[in-house]
Amino acid sequence: MVQIIDGKLVSSQIKEELREETARLKAAGIDICLAVVQVGNDPASTVYVNNKKKACAFVGIESRAFELPESAAEIELLNLVEQLNTDPSVNGILVQLPLPPHINEDKIIRAISPDKDVDGFHPVNVGRLWIGEQGFLSCTPAGIVQLLKRSGIEIAGKECVIIGRSNIVGKPMAALLLREHGTVTVAHSRTENLKEVARRADILIVAIGKKKFIQSEYIKDGAVVIDVGMHRDENGRLCGDVDFEDVKDKVSAITPVPGGVGPMTIAMLMNNCVETVRR
Ligand code: GUN
Repeated sequence: MVQIIDGKLVSSQIKEELREETARLKAAGIDICLAVVQVGNDPASTVYVNNKKKACAFVGIESRAFELPESAAEIELLNLVEQLNTDPSVNGILVQLPLPPHINEDKIIRAISPDKDVDGFHPVNVGRLWIGEQGFLSCTPAGIVQLLKRSGIEIAGKECVIIGRSNIVGKPMAALLLREHGTVTVAHSRTENLKEVARRADILIVAIGKKKFIQSEYIKDGAVVIDVGMHRDENGRLCGDVDFEDVKDKVSAITPVPGGVGPMTIAMLMNNCVETVRR
């Protein structure tokens, strides 16, 4: 029987645990505040930002919204970030991406204090991750590790193949699986013999951004498949990078889309917010 890994359930459990933790912290006089910065009003970003604010409210974290117009100059955003860096009542800073094209995203990410960087995007936190120091973990890969662990899936010693090498998912995923003692391969669009490489995987993580790209010939019998993709199929339904129907009889466990990896990202953002005061 295939195990459907329920990200919605696991993320609810994590948020519930965090809610209890923030209640204990509040009783001890410790409040947590996340500054949520949005530039412009891209509809997809507004949905994401609203979901993050809702999760904050549930967990017991104050979300403080900062909205700048699409036309805001880079220096205005840099000044706001600097003000939030030095504000002792702000624990975490989230600048929603993407930013308008006239603003340099890398410059903004580097301006956020590494100790308030709850997205885990700052090069200092990326470096900390790779050398095994404590720091903020990128939320989607951290959520995937939690999903595997809480579903009873062993990582140590396993062949882990990641397809995709982005800074937000593929690369930090490799560092995290290595830290969990997996044997890690990162494949990408230029990988030769991708099917053969993917078929080596006990745990296959797919983050390529191509609708239903992974079919059964990419899968070893009994593999665990984690699908990071999110698309609309020809009938307007949400689907992932993996062709779920085609692979489901071959895998031992798989994340659905929606309801797999997606809900975990926000749960791990909430965890990073609480982490700001655990230290
Ligand atoms: N835009 C899409 N995903 C994310 C995320 O995880 N963090 C930020 N800051 N922006 C995003």
